[in-house]
Amino acid sequence: MVSGVILLLFDPRPKERLEELFDREEEVKLLMKAVATPVTLLLGVRRVGKTSLLKSFLNSLGTPHIYLDLRILEDRGYSRAQLYRLLSDSVSSCISKWKKMLECFRGIKGVGISGFKVEFDWREEALTLTTLLNKLNEYAVSGTEGGFIVISFDEAQLLRFLAGGKGRMDFRRIIAYAYDNLRGLRFILTGSEVGVLLHFLGLDDASSPLYGRYVSTVRVERFPRERSIEFLNRGFREAKMNVSDDILNAIVEKVDGIPGWLTYFGCMCLESGGASKEAIRAVTEKALGIVEGELEELFKRSSQYRHVLKAVSLGAASWSSIKKAVEVWVGRRLANAEITRSLNTLTSLSIVEKIDGEYRIADPLIAEYCRKI
Ligand SMILES: Nc1ncnc2c1ncn2[C@@H]1O[C@H](COP(=O)(O)OP(=O)(O)OP(=O)(O)O)[C@@H](O)[C@H]1O
Ligand SMILES: [Mg+2]
Repeated sequence: MVSGVILLLFDPRPKERLEELFDREEEVKLLMKAVATPVTLLLGVRRVGKTSLLKSFLNSLGTPHIYLDLRILEDRGYSRAQLYRLLSDSVSSCISKWKKMLECFRGIKGVGISGFKVEFDWREEALTLTTLLNKLNEYAVSGTEGGFIVISFDEAQLLRFLAGGKGRMDFRRIIAYAYDNLRGLRFILTGSEVGVLLHFLGLDDASSPLYGRYVSTVRVERFPRERSIEFLNRGFREAKMNVSDDILNAIVEKVDGIPGWLTYFGCMCLESGGASKEAIRAVTEKALGIVEGELEELFKRSSQYRHVLKAVSLGAASWSSIKKAVEVWVGRRLANAEITRSLNTLTSLSIVEKIDGEYRIADPLIAEYCRKI
């Protein structure tokens, strides 16, 4: 991306190895403990580094692991055919490293094997997800050193679109079945819309198949100020660029300790050939363009989100002050439930955070954009 410079820390793609990851030793230890339990949730605000942590952790395990990025279905469609295609690809890439895994699929109706690739045929009705999980469990228990394998879902909140309707599947039921019966399988779920994921899983909802089950949670937090400065320092040093403390402070002022934005700012400064106040202004404009694209999609769903976010960005932190501000802008009285619903949705999308009863926007660049709308 940046001509002539090999990006390491400022590489904008999710990191895949612990050596590439800045900090997070504590979180890796917590994940290591958590995979002793059947289901782990990896939670945190947008761009905080959940995918990077998950991938780096998985690749550091001496245990087979399957990584499924559900966003593929967002493009291809939430059908059994596409899910089976995703599973075939992900399991095949696991088999290319853990060849013994292939044996557990031999002789099963609907499974095609060619070399070290498997193909699960979605048209074969007997080839259910529970059949596949049972086979993986047999392999995990008898064919691996640790006696378990990890199956991870990124953007797991999208699993909800596979539920309901003909030929569809409720993943909560499938995970609950594995939880109760398949000791060799460990699941890790993460996603950028944390509240939506939690709502879908329904751990506290008596009607959910997962109700009442213990689930481990690992939280990924923003870096504190000094760590953020260190992050930037290291990235610029790798690119052999000298950057003053003033500039580093100005970037952290803009984006707080959100690694996704620190990486973006670092990468863009390198691309523009320098890190000056002017460059930061230009990068901020670009970053605000990304924020705009994401938020305007959301505002198509309800224009009330726009008003609520503007109120919170301008400092309204309590429920009643947000309601008052929004009523002024829309020019009418609003039902309490309307505001509560908007705030709940914005919180579940990880855009707004509620801390000690006060609302705030999780991402300073989103706050900056909302102040101007
Ligand atoms: N600990 C880290 N060390 C180095 N780079 C990181 C770290 N965490 C995140 N990044 C960088 O920040 C960016 C965002 O990271 P990542 O995609 O992992 O975040 P995320 O929480 O999964 O985001 P989203 O909520 O959008 O899914 C990437 O460019 C990644 O390389
Ligand atoms: Mg992610």
